[in-house]
Amino acid sequence: MQELKLKIAQTIATLVDGALSPDEIAAMLEYPPDSAMGDLALPCFKFAKAMRKSPVMIASALRDSFSCEGVKEARAMGGYLNFTLDTDFYLATVNKIVSEGENYGRSEEGKGKTVVLDYSSPNVAKPFHIGHLGTTVIGHSLKKLHEFLGYTCIGINHLGDWGTQFGKIICAYRRWGSRAEVEAGGVDELVRIYVRFHEEAEKDPALNDEARAEFHKLELGDEENIALWKWFIEISLAEYKKTYDQLGIEFDSYNGEAFYTDKMPEQIELMREKGLLTLDDGATIVNLEAYNMPPCLILKRDGSTLYPTRDIAAAVYRKRTYDFDKCIYVTSSGQSLHFAQWFKVVEMMGYDWADKLVHVPYGTISIGGAKLATRTGNVILLRDLFSTAVEKCLDVINEKNPALENKEATAEAVGVGAIVFYYLLNGRIKDSDFNMEDALSFDGNTGPYTQYTYARCSSILSKTGDITGRATALTEPSEFALVKVLSRFPEAVKAAIRDYEPSVITRYSLEVATAFNKFYQDCRIISSEGEVNESRVLLVKATRTVIREALALICLKTPEKI
Ligand code: ARG
Repeated sequence: MQELKLKIAQTIATLVDGALSPDEIAAMLEYPPDSAMGDLALPCFKFAKAMRKSPVMIASALRDSFSCEGVKEARAMGGYLNFTLDTDFYLATVNKIVSEGENYGRSEEGKGKTVVLDYSSPNVAKPFHIGHLGTTVIGHSLKKLHEFLGYTCIGINHLGDWGTQFGKIICAYRRWGSRAEVEAGGVDELVRIYVRFHEEAEKDPALNDEARAEFHKLELGDEENIALWKWFIEISLAEYKKTYDQLGIEFDSYNGEAFYTDKMPEQIELMREKGLLTLDDGATIVNLEAYNMPPCLILKRDGSTLYPTRDIAAAVYRKRTYDFDKCIYVTSSGQSLHFAQWFKVVEMMGYDWADKLVHVPYGTISIGGAKLATRTGNVILLRDLFSTAVEKCLDVINEKNPALENKEATAEAVGVGAIVFYYLLNGRIKDSDFNMEDALSFDGNTGPYTQYTYARCSSILSKTGDITGRATALTEPSEFALVKVLSRFPEAVKAAIRDYEPSVITRYSLEVATAFNKFYQDCRIISSEGEVNESRVLLVKATRTVIREALALICLKTPEKI
C-alpha cells in the first residue's frame, strides 16, 4: 500500500502546486472506517491555507483532474477526497506477497545500523515473575522488528548479578542451605533461603550486618564467595533459559551488572574531572536540580557503587563495543526516573551519543480471576503462568483433536503464545490485568484464534497443493478487504518500530485473521474452478505468509496443525 500511497501523493502534489510534499501528503492518507466510502481518503483541510479555498472546494477540484494508476475512482465527500482502488492493485499485491514470501515487508532501511537492546534482565536468585513478562516479550519483539528492517541487533540480558542480595543469599546458604538441596531444588531453593533470610532478619537484625560482610568479601574477591556467586548465577540461568526456550528467545550477551565492576572507575573519574560530583550526606551524587530531577546516586557512603553507576559504565562499554545507533532499554515504568536521571548524567559527561539512549517503559501487570498457585510466596512466576496455560491447551487438544501429532509441542506453542499475545494486545504503557480464560479462548481476539487461522490456511494449501501461477481473478468484496489488510503489513512494521509498540503487530495480525475468516466464509476455495480457484489459493498462500511473519515478530510460533 505504501507505494500506491506515494504514487497518489505524487499526483496530488503536482495538483496542489507543491503546497505540501509528496511524503507529507502520503502521511495524510487515511483508511476510511467503511470501505463503501472508499479505500483511502485524503483530508483536504491542510491545503486550505496555501490554496485559499475551502477544503470542500479543494476536494472537488482535485477530483476533476485526478488520475492515477491503481485508483479506479476518486470521489469528493465533504472536505475529503476518497479513492476506490482498482482490481489491478489487489491482484498485484497478492502476486507480490506470493513471490516475495518471507521477504514481504522486510527492507534494508536499517542496513549498516546497529541497535542494542537491553531486556528481560532478571535479578539472579530472585523469582523470575510475571512482572518480567513485559520486558522479555516487548524487548524481544522490538529486536525482531528491527532485524526485519535490516538493523544489526544485539540482545543483552543485563542480569542483576551483583549487589547486596548476594551477601544475603550467601549468608542464608551457609546457615540454612546445602549443596544437595540447591542442586535438587534449583532456583526455587535459592528463593526459599532468600525469603527465609528476610524473615529471620526481621527478628535478628544482626543478620543484615553478616550479609553485608559476605557481600564485601565477595567484592574483595574472596574465593569461596566468588565460587558460590558463580554457582548461584549458573543455577538461575539454567532456569531462565527454559522460559526463553519456550519463547524462542536467545541473547547475544549475558553480561550482567557484575561485568561492569572494573569499568566504573574510569567513568567516575570523568564525572569528577567534569565537576559533576558533589557530596551529599556522605554519598556521592550528581545534582540534577536544574533538570527538575532528584540527584543521581553514584557512590554510597561506604564508597560502593550503585545501579545507575553500573548503567553508565555499561552504556559507555556498549557504545565502544558495538558503536550503536540506538541503545534501547525495556523496563517497567517504575524505572523511568532512573533512566531519565542517568541518561542526563551521560549527556553532562559530554558523550554526544546520549540522545541515542532510549527508555521504553511499560505498565504493571496483575492477575484477576483464577489465582495461580506458586510455591514461592506471593509472586506469580512466569514459568507457572506458562505451564498452567500449556496444560489447559493440552486438555483442549485432548478433547477436540486427540489424534493430533506433536500434541505437547503444539500445546506449548499455543499456551505460551496465548499469554504473550494477550499481553501484547494492549499498548505497552497501560496497566493490564490478566485473565487466563480470555487469553486461551479460540474465538476471541486471541493468540489461539490467530494461530488457528494460520493452521486453517496451511490445511487448505495442503489440500490444494502448491500453485505457482499468478492471481488474475479477484471479484468479491471480502477478497478485496483481505488483500487491503495484507497490503498494510509493511506499514504496520514501521509504525511498531516508530512507537516502540509491538501491540501494533498484535492488533494487525488479528485484523488479518478476521479478514481471512470473513473471506473463508464468503468464498468457496477448494470447490471453485479455473482462474478463480487459482487466485483464491494464492490469496490463502499470501495470508499464510503474512500471519506467520507477523506472529513471529511478536514471539509466537505457528504450528501447522492445531
Ligand atoms: N535487573 C533489573 C530489574 O529486574 C532490570 C535491569 C534493566 N536494565 C538496565 N540496564 N538497567 O529490575
